[in-house]
Amino acid sequence: MKKIAVLTSGGDAPGMNAAIRAVVRRSIFKKIEVYGVRHGYMGLMAGDFYQMDLGSVGDIIHRGGTILRSSRSELFKTADGQNQAIEALKIAGISGLIVIGGDGSFKGAAKLTAQGFPAIGIPGTIDNDIGGTEYSIGFDTAVNTVMEAIDKIRDTAYSHERACIIEVMGRHAGDIALWAGLCSGAESIIIPEVHQNLEDVMIRIQDGRDRGKMHSIIVVAEGVCSGEDFRITMKEKFNLDTNVIVLGHLQRGGSPTAYDRMMASRMGAKAVDLLLEGEKGSMIGWRNCQLVHVPFEIAGKDNHTINISDYHLARSLSI
Ligand code: F6P
Repeated sequence: MKKIAVLTSGGDAPGMNAAIRAVVRRSIFKKIEVYGVRHGYMGLMAGDFYQMDLGSVGDIIHRGGTILRSSRSELFKTADGQNQAIEALKIAGISGLIVIGGDGSFKGAAKLTAQGFPAIGIPGTIDNDIGGTEYSIGFDTAVNTVMEAIDKIRDTAYSHERACIIEVMGRHAGDIALWAGLCSGAESIIIPEVHQNLEDVMIRIQDGRDRGKMHSIIVVAEGVCSGEDFRITMKEKFNLDTNVIVLGHLQRGGSPTAYDRMMASRMGAKAVDLLLEGEKGSMIGWRNCQLVHVPFEIAGKDNHTINISDYHLARSLSI
């Protein structure tokens, strides 16, 4: 294999640039030409490639987002789209592809491999909702961003004795809500993996009030419902007044933490090594503090599980 390409796909995540840097530098270290694909699968189908050198990934390890840009493509889900992409790769003489993204992106990469084009995935999404790996790039930065936001919101909640509902990202998984909620001492954490009894949320708030603690923080993962819907329910059911704060896309931005830069560097280099060894159709994962690789089929979000003991830990500490 003499030429490979790298793209980012789906929602951007802090640390994607550090992963691109690792892919590019490891490839050059191994005397392989490496091409960046602009705009994810859209650029792949359009043949929008450029050769990357050491300098093209200089000064990016600390930057959020992705210098390659990202997109979501309906056309690439079709056989026509995939054929277009393979054709464009062949014309450019590229014989391997590294895809940095989430489980939707890996479905596309799996299709390419099934059609004979070798692809390897690197998990990159703040949601951490990918099967076969305990970690996806961007999660740690997002959790820290949410935790810092909650710390600030807590100042007002305390001062004005308010109950605040904070809606966080996580379409399919409650990892951000659980980690940020636990690390910021939230009174209640509402996640899709656990059915939450609303009476229980109210009892916890009331117990606090009976002890003189008049403020409370409720973290809701967007995969359960919107913060606004949760506010309306609490008002209708218990006549509880709350403030809703939707953190939105600020969770996806920012300079990656040291942990995200480290994981991105490890995974990026490993992806190149595996591709050169002839591996294909798999995603790099992190399990039991080791880099592993798992078939794309395992990487689906349905195979992701939350650490339920952390959920129980949070409940036992926020009494
Ligand atoms: O990257 C994952 C994610 O942040 C989800 O949690 C969120 O629902 C979604 O992306 C929003 O993505 P976009 O606004 O880019 O469609």
